[in-house]
Amino acid sequence: MKRATLALVVLAACAAGWSAVAEELPEADKLPVIEEMPDPLVMLDGQRLTEQDQWPARRDQLRQLFEHYMYGKAPPAPESVRFKVRSEDPKYFDGKATKREVTVHYGPEGAPPINLLMVVPNDLGKSAPVVLGLNFCGNHTLLDDETIALPTVWMPNRCPGCEGNKATDKGRGARVGRFDFEYAVERGYSVATFYHGDIDPDVNDFNNGVHPHFREKEARQGPHDWACIAAWAWGLSRAIDYLEKDESIDNERIIVYGHSRNGKTALLCGAFDERVAIVIPHQAGCGGSSPSRSPVGEQLKDINSRFPHWFCGEFHKFNDDPRRLPIDQNCLIAMCAPRPVLLTNAKDDQWADPSGQFDALKSAGKAYRFLGSPGLEAEKQPPLGQPLLSHLGYYIRAGKHSVTRDDWKVFLDFADKRFAK
Ligand code: GCU
Repeated sequence: MKRATLALVVLAACAAGWSAVAEELPEADKLPVIEEMPDPLVMLDGQRLTEQDQWPARRDQLRQLFEHYMYGKAPPAPESVRFKVRSEDPKYFDGKATKREVTVHYGPEGAPPINLLMVVPNDLGKSAPVVLGLNFCGNHTLLDDETIALPTVWMPNRCPGCEGNKATDKGRGARVGRFDFEYAVERGYSVATFYHGDIDPDVNDFNNGVHPHFREKEARQGPHDWACIAAWAWGLSRAIDYLEKDESIDNERIIVYGHSRNGKTALLCGAFDERVAIVIPHQAGCGGSSPSRSPVGEQLKDINSRFPHWFCGEFHKFNDDPRRLPIDQNCLIAMCAPRPVLLTNAKDDQWADPSGQFDALKSAGKAYRFLGSPGLEAEKQPPLGQPLLSHLGYYIRAGKHSVTRDDWKVFLDFADKRFAK
């Protein structure tokens, strides 16, 4: 189908208003091939935006396209969340911080709660900005602290100390540094994190985690229903629902961060949830910050075959030709506009396509400039080890797919700079 034909299909759908569009969208194999990443400023019917007040309609359209073709549609936010403070230690890190564990219930009855671990700086004299992110192997692995609750939900056995898909004490402190709590506190930031399996176990099964609690009893997962990454991103938004009620947190300065699959999730959360002030997807790669169309690194057919549960069923139809996608990840970054986004990478992590990510950022920059924000202030990728901390930021260092103190320094330098504006 040519773009003009697609335009007719879409115009017909538009007659019923955008809310009805998702049902009218063409099947993957009926979509036209688009060689380059789709322009974030051009509507699906080919119309280019000319006025800033047209942006919300385009953003809403992009949201529907990502839901329909890629991540699946999550349920609306619950009216409220309930929470219980499980533990609190006001003298953490030699009195520099308060550690808090909070259980967040978002309903319906029986849905698995979020177990949030937070460390908040003391004596700031004001509420603190927060870096919120998912972790891979449980809160207890991130700090050397025997009081932190062990997860009781399903765990992958590759996580340290896990046996028979259960967490054990042996994993305590095994991943210290992944979330650099003490360093963040010293720089005036709080950190909040929870295990992504609290929301949905990372396995190809939609009958566990949150999924069965949000559909009719006999219903099965449909091709456009929320898959794992959408569920995790929705979970991050539920943690934000709680953080908004926590007086020690400045809810104007919420940073959503994540590494790798959790970075893909951070970007989706930031794109969909405008309460997020800054988005930092670290080495997020395919299905996150790198273009689906790029021939470099992980391809859609790789990711969909190894992790079939991360994206909705419809997305698998693009395995052989990602150029049929009416969206690309530049558009997901653009959905964050005008809020700052920082993409961070490592040279030896070509699987995550660092250069493709720079291209996506550049293209997203058009939406930022359209909205009056400077966007990306460079034409070329910066040299190794030299962070580009413009409004849309980029960083690539030597080394591999990992999280280091140096990475955390860059995250917080970026946040300092953006919040100072
Ligand atoms: C795999 C996968 C990546 C993902 C990474 C991770 O390498 O192919 O897409 O980012 O796992 O989450 O650790």
